[in-house]
Amino acid sequence: MNIDEVKQAIAGLGPQQLLAFVAQNFGGKAVFSTSFGWEDQVISDMIFTEDLNVKVFTLDTGRMFTETYYTWNRTLEKYQKPIYTFYPDKEKLQEMVTKKGPSSFYESVENRKECCGIRKVEPLNRALAGHEVWITGIRADQSANREDMQWVEWDAAHNLIKVHPLFFWSLDEVKTYVNEKNVPYNPLHDKGFPSIGCQPCTRAVQPGEDFRAGRWWWEDASKKECGLHDVTAHEEVFKP
Ligand code: ADX
Ligand code: SF4
Repeated sequence: MNIDEVKQAIAGLGPQQLLAFVAQNFGGKAVFSTSFGWEDQVISDMIFTEDLNVKVFTLDTGRMFTETYYTWNRTLEKYQKPIYTFYPDKEKLQEMVTKKGPSSFYESVENRKECCGIRKVEPLNRALAGHEVWITGIRADQSANREDMQWVEWDAAHNLIKVHPLFFWSLDEVKTYVNEKNVPYNPLHDKGFPSIGCQPCTRAVQPGEDFRAGRWWWEDASKKECGLHDVTAHEEVFKP
């Protein structure tokens, strides 16, 4: 299938249809990354209930919230489907923590990026290796940076197509889906956490605060991406 055929085929599709299209055309080569946030839970529900040929994986940083592990378990119970788990490289992690202690990320942006690099980015590269499509739960209105992304785009860093099925959904649409389909979700979402990452690097936001204000809250807003999603190096491939 060439790019023009793909463009035509996805025009006007909704998230569920886009996922089905990806599974049919890239089956076995398509992966979905979940951090168990409610956007991710919606996508997992769509993949698991339709039994789509998309592998679901998570990156366990070792620093996640208890509530996130609880959500992970409830997801396994409900769908009875595998969630492939990737861990940080043991040697690199041991070396960093031995040298800098368990909370080096608070000390500098450099240290924080080193920790994200070891606990998330390097495992992500292993998880994506050999695949052609990477599906994420990113929505455009999660941050100003993300508005510049496209719902289907070329990820030059990983050399694959990146797909964000819920890119155009509002938070209300996500919540409605979760409620209507009884999808398990992270209880922290009801306690002021719109965006949930590692426990030491995520806090609740105040009413009216930005969606991602609770992530790495001590850092300048412009630096708040962990390296999983390179928002500057992407190149548009096609959009509806
Ligand atoms: S992050 O870059 O700031 O950490 P965010 O929490 O907004 O990302 O999540 C955006 C998307 O990145 C999620 O929908 C999910 O696809 C992916 N993602 C983030 N963290 C993880 C994780 N620990 N494991 C797997 N995928 C993740
Ligand atoms: Fe480390 Fe914090 Fe990044 Fe998690 S979010 S990998 S704890 S710096």
